[in-house]
Amino acid sequence: MALKTFALVVFGGDGDLALRKIFPALYHRIKDGQISVGNRIIAVSKGDLNTDSFLSLMVEHLKLHVADVDANVVDKLVGITSFVQADLNVAEDYLPLKEMLDEADLPQTLFYYSTPSFLFASISRMLNQHGIITENSKVILEKPLGLDLTSFEELNEELSKYFTEQQMYRIDHYLGKETVQNLMVLRFANHLFELAWNAQNIDNIQITVAESIGVEKRKEFYDSCGALKDMVQNHLLQLLCLVAMEPPATLNADNVRDEKLKVLKSLRMFNPGNVGKHTAKGQYARGEVQGGRVDSYQEDIGSYDSTTETFVALKVFIDNWRWAGTPFYLRTGKRLEKKYSEIVINFKMVPHNVFPAGPRIDQNQLIIRLQPEENIELVQMAKIPGPGGYRYQPVPLKLDFSDSFHKRFPDAYERLLMDVVRGNQTLFMRADEVRASWKWIHSITDSWEKTKQEVQLYKAGSSGPGSKVMEAGHKWHESNEKDDKKDISQFFGT
Ligand code: BG6
Repeated sequence: MALKTFALVVFGGDGDLALRKIFPALYHRIKDGQISVGNRIIAVSKGDLNTDSFLSLMVEHLKLHVADVDANVVDKLVGITSFVQADLNVAEDYLPLKEMLDEADLPQTLFYYSTPSFLFASISRMLNQHGIITENSKVILEKPLGLDLTSFEELNEELSKYFTEQQMYRIDHYLGKETVQNLMVLRFANHLFELAWNAQNIDNIQITVAESIGVEKRKEFYDSCGALKDMVQNHLLQLLCLVAMEPPATLNADNVRDEKLKVLKSLRMFNPGNVGKHTAKGQYARGEVQGGRVDSYQEDIGSYDSTTETFVALKVFIDNWRWAGTPFYLRTGKRLEKKYSEIVINFKMVPHNVFPAGPRIDQNQLIIRLQPEENIELVQMAKIPGPGGYRYQPVPLKLDFSDSFHKRFPDAYERLLMDVVRGNQTLFMRADEVRASWKWIHSITDSWEKTKQEVQLYKAGSSGPGSKVMEAGHKWHESNEKDDKKDISQFFGT
């Protein structure tokens, strides 16, 4: 089906996200022939730029963020892109934008709000005042959508005056990652895994999103937010939903989102009685990351009394039939040893050991690596070849996507932008999902406040203070553990 042509207006068009992610995504979609020169792109910002200087800036960034830039593709992107300088709070500044959109007269207009969320309401009001919002408009909203339940509700109420739920695309870029979408295929296109996907067979599930970077340029924002709201409220909860949800009837947006919502509503709330044992929060101190000395968080932000957490670990329960009693461990942090994201499914022990003289039998483990490596590993016990009784050890059976699919993995924003163009909301969050996640996050922040839970310092370059939330017999799977195990391929001579 031919895609409806569009005008894409990027508010905050000269910002970090736009230059690092949105324009490179548009470049790739042009290169793959999905976006043609019949479309229009308009970057809007109050930055002191005009179309020529903006385009030079954009091209400079494409060279930084795209491998082997193709000059023909750049020319096509440049040919359909313009810049409008506007103070987003000033009504008259929207007139040139209106003129451009009227002149382009395309079947749909996408407004990408790539600005701080305090500007969302004012941009919408101004667009509406000029009659720029029509039934053919869609709005793409970047996180954070509020900083708590109340601010989310206020923002949502304001946006709902101008856009219907079907017109709103709330981005969580983790949902656009190839390996995250593969989770759906792994679960729902493979009989084998789904049979064992429940509390009867799974001992515990771990989700880790570790970063080696610090707070970078977003000091003020990050300090008012912290790891729980920056990462858990959205990315980690979305991963949790995809791992734990029931199979949706179809991939229709509401069917998928209904199932995710059920998971969010089944999350056990925290309270002052369990928050101390089931949560850990940390802040990085000076240390060494990948061979280089790095400053502490407080030094990075220049405030020496900040208690904002840059690390959080949680032991979470989903109170429903499928998952009753299975702990889900979530952890994320900045300035950890290295950047990696993975989901580890630890299966239960065999019920009876028929090799009493042999070594300990380990649990089967399914490790789903999301980034930077993209692979799935099934760790199973295998006999060590040779005579002399049964000796065995855990060996990984590995499916490496880069070996199986000799293709570039598109960036999350490429997929998500094209879904907006097509009008597919499956990978975007519905308001009730965001509401449910903020309610649950509130049970943590409220309990932290009531119990005055303190932030624990951890050395930059370490794996953070996450062990505290583990129950006896459980431990975090660390990304380097796989080095201790032998690859099964050597047994089969592949
Ligand atoms: C963003 C957070 O949503 O995700 C950042 O605000 C974080 O703090 C980033 O660094 C991580 O995304 P990715 O795709 O690099 O894992």
